[in-house]
Amino acid sequence: MNPVLQEILQSGKVRSHSGESFDLGLVHIPQREGEFLRQLIFEANPKVSLEIGLAYGISALFICEAIRSVKGTKHIVIDPFQSDSFRSIGLNNLNNAGFEDLVEFYESPSCTVLPKLEREGIKIDFAFIDGGHSFEAVFVDIFYTDRILRVGGILAIDDTNFPAVLEALRHFLDTGRYSLVGTITASSADQAPQWKKAIRVFMRSVCKYCPALKRILRLEFSDCNAQLAIPPDVRCVALRKEREC
Ligand SMILES: C[S@@+](CC[C@H](N)C(=O)[O-])C[C@H]1O[C@@H](n2cnc3c(N)ncnc32)[C@H](O)[C@@H]1O
Repeated sequence: MNPVLQEILQSGKVRSHSGESFDLGLVHIPQREGEFLRQLIFEANPKVSLEIGLAYGISALFICEAIRSVKGTKHIVIDPFQSDSFRSIGLNNLNNAGFEDLVEFYESPSCTVLPKLEREGIKIDFAFIDGGHSFEAVFVDIFYTDRILRVGGILAIDDTNFPAVLEALRHFLDTGRYSLVGTITASSADQAPQWKKAIRVFMRSVCKYCPALKRILRLEFSDCNAQLAIPPDVRCVALRKEREC
C-alpha cells in the first residue's frame, strides 16, 4: 500500500499543506471498499478513470495506486468543495503520494464538469461515484457518467445503502444496459439486526424534524428498492456497461 495512504489509515489523521493535523473522521470509504475498487481496476485495466467526490482523497489514493499499476494514464477527479471544506487536503495527499501527474482535478460541481467532458469527447473506462448523495445528484452523476463510459467499462457507486442512491441506480439497472459485477456490504456491525432496527427508528425520527436530511435519505424509496436484486445492506455496487442503448 502507498505509504501516504497507510499512514492516514493507521493514524486516523490527515495534514494540510501547512502541516496542521485534522481527524480523518467518517467522510471516506472503508479500507475493504478501497481493496474492492483496486480489484475492479485490476480486472478492468482502465486507461482513463473518473471519480466524483474527493474529500480527503482516501478512495482516490486507492484508485490512483491501482491505476498506476495497470499503466493507466489519467484519473479525473471532481469536487467543488475541496478547498473550502477539505482545505485541499485530498489534493495534497495525492501529490504527496506521487500521483500529481496522473490526476486531473476540477473544483466545480459534477453536473457542470461532466457535460463539459462529454462535449470534449473524453471517454473513460472506470468510474467511482461518491459525490452529492441526494437522489437528483446521484441520478445526474450516473446519467452523465454513462454517456462518457465506454462499453465494457466499470461503474462503481458508493453508499447504495442510502435509499435515494439505490433509487437513482435502479433507473439504470432497469435499462438492461448494465450487468452486476460485484457488491460489498456495509460492515458486519452495521448489519446486526438490532443495529438495523435502531438505525431505521433513528432515521425516521430524525427525518421528521430535519426536512433537509429527509430529502437526502428518501426513506420512501425503500419499498420499490426492495424489489431489486441488490440487498439494502450493500454499500457499494459495481456494474459493467454492456451496450450503449
Ligand atoms: C463522501 S465524500 C467522498 C469521500 C471520498 N470518496 C473518499 O472515500 O475519500 C463526498 C464528497 O462529494 C463532494 N461533493 C458534494 N457535492 C458534489 C458535487 N455536486 N459534485 C462533485 N462532488 C461533490 C463533497 O465535497 C465530498 O468531498
